Order: sequence, then C-alpha cells, then structure tokens
Amino acid sequence: MYPLLYKGKVRDIYQVDDTKLLMVASDRISAFDHVFKEAIPGKGKVLTAMTKFWSDALLKLFPTHLISTESSDFGLEAQDIEEFDLPGRSMLVKKAAMIDMECIVRGYMAGSAWKEYELNGTMHGINLPAGLTKGSKLPQPLFTPSTKNHLGHDENIAPSTAKEMLGEKLFSSVEEICISAYNLATELALQKGIVIADTKFEIGIIDGKPLICDEILTPDSSRFWDLQDYEEGRIGISFDKQPIRDWAEQSGWDKNSSPPPLPRNVIEESMARYIAAYERLSAKSFSEWLKQHCI
Ligand SMILES: Nc1ncnc2c1ncn2[C@@H]1O[C@H](COP(=O)(O)OP(=O)(O)OP(=O)(O)O)[C@@H](O)[C@H]1O
Ligand SMILES: [Mg+2]
Repeated sequence: MYPLLYKGKVRDIYQVDDTKLLMVASDRISAFDHVFKEAIPGKGKVLTAMTKFWSDALLKLFPTHLISTESSDFGLEAQDIEEFDLPGRSMLVKKAAMIDMECIVRGYMAGSAWKEYELNGTMHGINLPAGLTKGSKLPQPLFTPSTKNHLGHDENIAPSTAKEMLGEKLFSSVEEICISAYNLATELALQKGIVIADTKFEIGIIDGKPLICDEILTPDSSRFWDLQDYEEGRIGISFDKQPIRDWAEQSGWDKNSSPPPLPRNVIEESMARYIAAYERLSAKSFSEWLKQHCI
C-alpha cells in the first residue's frame, strides 16, 4: 500500500513515488479551520469532479498538477487503501513543493475581507474606495494572500508582505497565475449564472515552475453565488459552505473549541448545493460522474 504522507482536514495524501501523489478527498467538512465530526456523504466526490472540470478548463491557459482521476491510472497499490471508496474521489497528481501561503483572489467583498473593510476601509491592507458594501463587486479582482497558520486561524496579509516572503519574481508569477485563472473561471461561471466571489488557490513548484495544485475552484475553496439572486449589498443563494458557516455563526460556537454537531438538514442542504454548483458549472449531471467513475 502507498504510504500515507499527510492527513489534511479534508484530504488524505498517499505517496505513489518520488514525483506523484494520490490525493483522496474524504467527506469531511471543515469551517473556520475546524473539522466537524459529521461527514457529508459524497462530498469528496463532488470536490474531485469539480477540480477535474476546472483543471480541464484551465488547460487553455496552463497545466495544473492533476494527472488523472481515472482509478485505472492509480496503480495496484491503491487497491489496498481500504479506508475509502477511492474511485470518483481521488486524483493522481504531480508532487509539488507547496508554497506555504493561501493564494486567495477576491472579486467581491465577502468574508474576512468585508470584516476588515468595515473596520478600516482596507482589504489585506490595500486601500479601497469608500462606499463598498458586503457583496460589492471590487473595482478589479485582487490577489490577497494569507498565511497558513497550521495551528490557529489563517491570517490575512498585505500583498507587500507576501512579496517579501516569496521574492518579487515568484510573487509576480503566482499573482499572474491566480488572477488569470480567476478571470477565466469567472467568465465561464457567469455564463452559467454563477458569481465566483472569491477563491483560494494553492500553488506548488513542479519542475521549477509554479503550478496550481490542490483542489481547484471547488465550493470548499470558493464562494459561489447565484447570479440571478445576487444584488449588491444582499447575497442570496450561495452554492458553497456558507450555509455551514452561517449555521456555525448562529450556533454560539466559539470557533476555538471542538465544533457542535451539524444538524442533518444542514448536511443535506450543503450536499444539495455542492451538487447544484457542479451541475450548473459543468453542465453535466453528478450522477454521470458517479456512473463513469464509481461503477
Ligand atoms: N500537488 C501537490 N503536491 C504536494 N502537496 C499538495 C499538492 N496539492 C495539494 N497539496 C497539499 O495537500 C494538502 C491537501 O489536504 P487538505 O485539503 O485536507 O489540507 P488542509 O486541511 O487544507 O491542510 P493545510 O491547511 O495543511 O493545507 C494541503 O496541505 C495541500 O497544500
Ligand atoms: Mg485544503
């Protein structure tokens, strides 16, 4: 069996050989950097379907770390991994030296960025025009990285700090990759009636070059809003983990202790939205993905 290299909040990562990894997306759900006890059955498969969809779409611009989502490519030793039903939720990828930074692109005002703007009129320290509100479209998409805090919450940092951390050259190419991927994805998503308010990329160095790794533009890593139901200042339906965040916010949980149990309706509603996001964006049915990969 391939050795387990790392167990993340959502993914289990196995070492296939020196250059390849098998990333298995579990059904675990995390919010505010905590993993809930309850799983969302099938969620890992939607995330993998979505990542495959976006990786293919991004090929117009550049390759990503993804090699294959076909279990016939995973190698014999994958068959000994018994913890999960691997097909449909796993990806063979190129192993990267990951940049220790959350490479966030924001096109709209939401989340922690809105909290900072409300307080200081800035976003990751960048001055923004006055009068923006929650849900406002930004004058242009901004690359707003944050540090990965492996123990506590991630911390928003100014792009100038990220530049110091990565060096000017690497920072510019990472920024360029993230902004162009966001722009291409946004253009495509808007045609399907979805606003990508923000997304978090993870970039790794493969063969000396920065490439998009990890999950790509999934409802776990992005905010997806229904265009039809969107108005500035009022965010309507979102096809992401916002219902989990909203529920967690109103549950009285302090976000430092272990999270309260997720109610069944929140689990079901979340899964339905994840599937809706995949189906809207890809114009394919999720059952087709399951049929192709899991039977
Ligand atoms: N191609 C790659 N090569 C090496 N590591 C990768 C690659 N793609 C993604 N990763 C790493 O695999 C892990 C994915 O697991 P998961 O999404 O569960 O992590 P996470 O809980 O978000 O963890 P972390 O906060 O440590 O990133 C991340 O640490 C990510 O940086
Ligand atoms: Mg992750």
